[in-house]
Amino acid sequence: MRGQKAAITGIGAYIPDYILTNDELSNMMDTSDEWIMTRIGIKERHILKEEGEGTSFMGERAVNQLLEKTNTKPEEVDILICATVTPDHVFPATANIIADKVGIKNGFGFDVNAGCSGFLYALATGAKYVESGMYKKVIVVGADKMSSIVDYTDRTVAPIFGDGAGAVMLEPTDDNYGVMDIILESDGVGRHYLHQKAGGSVKPPSHESVDAREHYIYQEGQPVFKWAVSKMADVSVEMMKKHNLTSDDIRYLVPHQANMRIISATAKRMGLDPHKVMINIDRYGNTTAATLPLCMWDYEKSLKKGDNLILSTFGAGFTWGAIYVKWAYDPE
Ligand code: UT7
Repeated sequence: MRGQKAAITGIGAYIPDYILTNDELSNMMDTSDEWIMTRIGIKERHILKEEGEGTSFMGERAVNQLLEKTNTKPEEVDILICATVTPDHVFPATANIIADKVGIKNGFGFDVNAGCSGFLYALATGAKYVESGMYKKVIVVGADKMSSIVDYTDRTVAPIFGDGAGAVMLEPTDDNYGVMDIILESDGVGRHYLHQKAGGSVKPPSHESVDAREHYIYQEGQPVFKWAVSKMADVSVEMMKKHNLTSDDIRYLVPHQANMRIISATAKRMGLDPHKVMINIDRYGNTTAATLPLCMWDYEKSLKKGDNLILSTFGAGFTWGAIYVKWAYDPE
């Protein structure tokens, strides 16, 4: 049917039990709680310690919670899209593994890799499938086991990242709720500043690449920071202008949780008071594709039908974007 929108009708999430504190990190490397809190704003992050388990372990749990909360049978699901930079394997897609584990048998799935913007890109993709009228139940997962690619001898990267997974259900609605508008952008020049050097087709794994510690995140923090501050704010303000939204009209900014200073700069450019910004970076760190669904999961009880949300991200690629969502349900 024409004119339908894709509404978020539920959220599930999973956070691993193990908590890596700043104090524990300070015992592993030359850093301090004070430096990490001042420069990044992270107090602790959760780490998946289960032996032999990867991103799908967390995705499976997030999706099972989502299915339960939305009273959905796995066989009713049409599509499962998983945003991740830490797939269980290079192939097949982690989406297929999660779908198999939760019993989705009548749908299809694929992964999206857009760095920390992965969930936003996947949400945009899922929304378009729903709006087309062809699919009725689309699950969008954002999940990352960042601890699998963090070098815990590198103090410039290790404090930033954590593990986690979140999942939302998208369903068609005739009402004026759901995904209202999407702006996505990218610039491949950013690949130089944030990447994983080895393990892909350019540099397959070798003894040398392991010895050179090239299977970990490589990040030049300052250029990434500068791009993130300007692009996340630009695109969020652009979305407000496009829809004549003032700061009063916005219930929450849902920002990617990479650095508290980036979040604050974005909110300031949008004219938003801090109480209108979803923040959980202090507890989870940067969970890459999982940050946005984890925010909405944490704040779900304070969201009401009709609330205007601006989701905003920046990540590897570089990729960035904003999605304007009108929340579609009241808390239970
Ligand atoms: O989600 C994907 C997108 N990623 C991001 O958005 C990350 C963007 N970048 C950042 O958030 C920041 O650049 C960092 C948090 C990574 C670094 O913060 P910064 O304020 O840019 O610090 P810096 O790199 O300029 O380093 C300042 C100082 C340096 O020492 P010197 O050269 O001034 O003596 C670093 O060696 O801080 C030192 N430093 C640390 N000190 C204690 C770097 N890491 C640490 C640490 N503990 N963990």
